[in-house]
Amino acid sequence: MQRTKVKDLLQGAEVGKEVLLKGWVRTKRGNKYVNFIAVNDGSTINNLQVVAEAEKFSEESLKDVTTGAAIAVVGQLVESQGKGQAYEVQATSIEVLGKADPETYPLQKKAHSLEFLREIAHLRFRTNTFGAVFRVRNTLAFAVHKFFNEKGFVYMHTPIITASDAEGAGEMFRVTTLDPKNPPLTESGEVNYEEDFFGKATNLTVSGQLEGELAAMAFSDIYTFGPTFRAENSNTTRHLAEFWMIEPEMAFYDLKMNADLAEEFIKYIIRYALEHNREDIEFLGQRLAEEDKAKPQNERQEMTLLEKLEFVVNNDFERVTYTEAIDILVNSNHYKKKKFQYDVAWGIDLQSEHERYLVEKHFKKPVIVTNYPKDIKAFYMRLNDDGKTVAAMDILAPGIGEIVGGSQREERIDILVERMKSVGIHEEDLWWYLDTRRFGGCPHAGFGLGFERMVQFVTGMGNIRDVIPFPRTPQNAEF
Ligand code: 4AD
Ligand code: MG
Repeated sequence: MQRTKVKDLLQGAEVGKEVLLKGWVRTKRGNKYVNFIAVNDGSTINNLQVVAEAEKFSEESLKDVTTGAAIAVVGQLVESQGKGQAYEVQATSIEVLGKADPETYPLQKKAHSLEFLREIAHLRFRTNTFGAVFRVRNTLAFAVHKFFNEKGFVYMHTPIITASDAEGAGEMFRVTTLDPKNPPLTESGEVNYEEDFFGKATNLTVSGQLEGELAAMAFSDIYTFGPTFRAENSNTTRHLAEFWMIEPEMAFYDLKMNADLAEEFIKYIIRYALEHNREDIEFLGQRLAEEDKAKPQNERQEMTLLEKLEFVVNNDFERVTYTEAIDILVNSNHYKKKKFQYDVAWGIDLQSEHERYLVEKHFKKPVIVTNYPKDIKAFYMRLNDDGKTVAAMDILAPGIGEIVGGSQREERIDILVERMKSVGIHEEDLWWYLDTRRFGGCPHAGFGLGFERMVQFVTGMGNIRDVIPFPRTPQNAEF
């Protein structure tokens, strides 16, 4: 007999028929006459109610049907007499495929804290919250590919091991096969990476952009979607050491076209999740509303999760230059009352408190900030005519802060080389990158969307550790 997924059964696909379902027991309750077993198989947030009459099933035969156990059920799918579900299964046979000892199985009926669940990340998929989060994550990932595929972008797999540091930030994980106890040394006593596996020092990539640019100079429009690694020691709710990034790169695009694409893209994938994971998002919205009740009035959300997402999809993002953003901040009451921890002046790198003020207090919607001072941005961003700013753009989202970073790229080789020199990047190391400017270079642009921050935005989860299955953060690489 073929198994049917709970999601399909709950849509009444096989009413009146004998069905086979498999899944994990969420709860079992009952009385002298009948047992109700709630079964979930991950296909939907909803459980299927299995009715096991005491006449047919002895107490003994159901003793291993406990929370967490894997079971297979055969029975008839019927319209439910009880409230709370449209359909249920009248069981004729129940087989326990895998027991879960109630004495030691950590996920019992009561609600567990997110912190506790992080410690049992191998089991947390089985909770309603994480079931919803990871189904939404899956849908968003699919929507990313769908969006770019429909636009004719080519999906490029850029390398994970690299010898270049795209962001020039130097926060990289070294990849080596040298013996740490006894590495080969150069005459001056430093580790000799010429003897390492690749014949040079290599790291895990911090971005696929530079390689993406090479491909854009042939396919016009490409995107990458892969793991990214940063050894920044920031223990925040928005940083991971291993995260996923989507990086489109487009030939013949300027900054405005870049910003337009990013806005269209973000709206598209949110809309797709709203259409395909409505129940999950509604559930996550309720959980957020519950969480909110415990907070003081002034910290509560003005909109529900669904309202927020609908609002973002249906309204234009705000667009301001960095200079305008600084003006807004300096003229704010918040600033005058000295409520910012970090000072504000033209030239500073916006701190997350500044970003959050702009999106949450001032504009109350996503904001695209453009044209940042060149000294706080990467070497590859195109220098503006003022000589002081570059054609950069960051997209800031309510509750998250920076969600996208991107720019028009410097296509003029002399200016690019100059910028590289000033930040200490050697021309020889990036000879292949510079070749794109030598041979058929053209104006082009791109951006990077932090996938986990996007998942946070759509699910409303406050901590980035709760939107990636197994988070890697300082002092933590369990599972
Ligand atoms: O702003 P970033 O550093 O930009 C780049 O890497 C460019 N190469 C992108 C491009 O133009 N192709 O990173 C892009 C985004 C950030 O806006 C943020 O959403 C996310 O990546 N991000 C992180 N997400 C989680 N943990 C971290 N440690 C992150 N660092 C950046
Ligand atoms: Mg950035």
